[in-house]
Amino acid sequence: MSEVSVSGVLAELGRMRLLPVVVIDDVRHAAPLAAALLAGGLPCAEVTLRTPAALEALRILAADPDLLVGAGTVLSPTQAEEAVRAGARFVVTPGWSDAVVERCRVLGVPILPGVATPTEVLRALDAGLDTVKLFPAGLLGGPAAVRALAGPFPGLGVVPTGGIGPDDLRRYLDLPTVLAVGGSWMTAPELLREGRFDEVRTRTEHAVVMVREAR
Ligand code: 3PG
Repeated sequence: MSEVSVSGVLAELGRMRLLPVVVIDDVRHAAPLAAALLAGGLPCAEVTLRTPAALEALRILAADPDLLVGAGTVLSPTQAEEAVRAGARFVVTPGWSDAVVERCRVLGVPILPGVATPTEVLRALDAGLDTVKLFPAGLLGGPAAVRALAGPFPGLGVVPTGGIGPDDLRRYLDLPTVLAVGGSWMTAPELLREGRFDEVRTRTEHAVVMVREAR
């Protein structure tokens, strides 16, 4: 296995089996969000670099030693660098980028590249990676798509993301190639905007229970 694939970070994600995707508009939401995730039993987050507040929010979340925090929606090598400087311990992209993968290698940070086709999986394998984000998982066929990819790529670790919610979470968790399931349903942007951090905690707790039941 590649150096990246055996990294402690991906192993930690594999133990949690969930990756809450965060779109944050206001840095003041970062601290209560961290508290809600921790109270819900899920000490990790992917902060998407889609909002002006994202990097500072990432910095605040990453400063909590109990949280494993990565950066999502990383579209360029510069963004990868900024994210790592802000404390990101892993990088997620929505699609394949040679430039971002190469910069992450130089930075020594694990990357979950977005893939949507077997050709892109082959690119990831060629680059020495064996764990990918399948995006947008729901549109690509959901759990059936993950199962189909496991045929030619049995050793591939998959993080399906996009269009997943509590109703189909269990079907993804039951698949052995699924390292973790990503999604924004636990940390939905409107919950953050409306200050409904109790609901973030509740949704997180429910998802964590499902992970436990799937074991
Ligand atoms: C995204 O890019 O927003 C993530 O993949 C999350 O997708 P979701 O909002 O459908 O869970």
